[in-house]
Amino acid sequence: MKILAIETSCDETAAAIAEGTENSVKLISNIISSQVKIHEKYGGVVPEVAAREHVVNILPVIEEALLTAGVKRNEIRKKISAIAVTIGPGLITSLMVGIETAKTLAYVWQLPLITVNHIEGHLYSNFIKQSPKLPAIILTVSGGHTQLVLMKNHLSYTTIGETRDDAAGEAFDKAAQLLGLGYPGGPMVAKQAVYYKPSSHKKNPPIHLPRPMLKEKNFDFSFSGLKTALLYAVKKDKNYKKRISEYCYEFEQAVVEVLVKKTIRAAEKYHVASVMLAGGVAANETLRKTLQTEAKKNKLAFYLPDLQYTTDNAAMIATAGYFKYKAHIYTPWSKVKVDPNLDL
Ligand code: KG4
Ligand code: ZN
Repeated sequence: MKILAIETSCDETAAAIAEGTENSVKLISNIISSQVKIHEKYGGVVPEVAAREHVVNILPVIEEALLTAGVKRNEIRKKISAIAVTIGPGLITSLMVGIETAKTLAYVWQLPLITVNHIEGHLYSNFIKQSPKLPAIILTVSGGHTQLVLMKNHLSYTTIGETRDDAAGEAFDKAAQLLGLGYPGGPMVAKQAVYYKPSSHKKNPPIHLPRPMLKEKNFDFSFSGLKTALLYAVKKDKNYKKRISEYCYEFEQAVVEVLVKKTIRAAEKYHVASVMLAGGVAANETLRKTLQTEAKKNKLAFYLPDLQYTTDNAAMIATAGYFKYKAHIYTPWSKVKVDPNLDL
């Protein structure tokens, strides 16, 4: 059985076809049309512009996903078993383009519809071509979310901690903006951080930023104070432009240390079988490596999605869709509604 999935929650128009095999998923096609170049000049995603682009791109992207998978138009009903679509959280007008398209196709092709939470999709990016053991603690870090999720079984999630203000990706984006590095900020900060060599700045005391909420016993996070601390440090420093890589390095270290330590603590408390990483910030090399090292030290099985499945894509929506299909969780097309603030 094959699932066609559609994802338009932010600024990527994406469609994918996946085939489920027991506890894992094989990808047949995965098409993404990114709008990064369009939104770059505004320093962030402009919702109205994003929605208009989705309208233009959605059918060509779906068609390419079908053609790449070798599914001809007259074979769709025979070869595709269901359509999965992201219904939230995200930008309402962007989500609506994907949802209305999925509803129309499900209606015309008479296929069952499966609704997927965008965060649920990110969690399931870990089940593409691999089958991690459950229960698991999944650190979910994106531009809009930072959550520690306890996944006891398939499709069962408990949020045990989350950010009280900014998401980790948002913090990276704001730090980049503050340092004049452009958009999207996460990859820019990470790129600069690599250039910092601790020994090359002996004359200056090293920059130190706080590790927010690290000492607190709960599993919540807070990143807005870290951004403010960076702002004050930069304002005080007349030579900050010469130390951009060090600011990026220290900022990245601060975010990664808090995320990793709290994730490992959560894994120990809940005695899970594995630790996983998900969401756009899961593309961060330092975070990937540090969490992997710490999980190994603590004898925890560790999984992370391939780099290409960390930022928004429809492959992860197809994967979550497959597990819902197996559980017979469908929604009639007339009942499918957009929910920009959907909780996990
Ligand atoms: O999951 P995603 O593609 O979209 C949302 O659902 O939000 O995540 C995008 C976020 C952005 O904030 C971006 O700056 C961040 O992920 N990001 C990174 C890296 N690549 C993307 N943050 C840190 N390091 C990276 N390499
Ligand atoms: Zn996302």
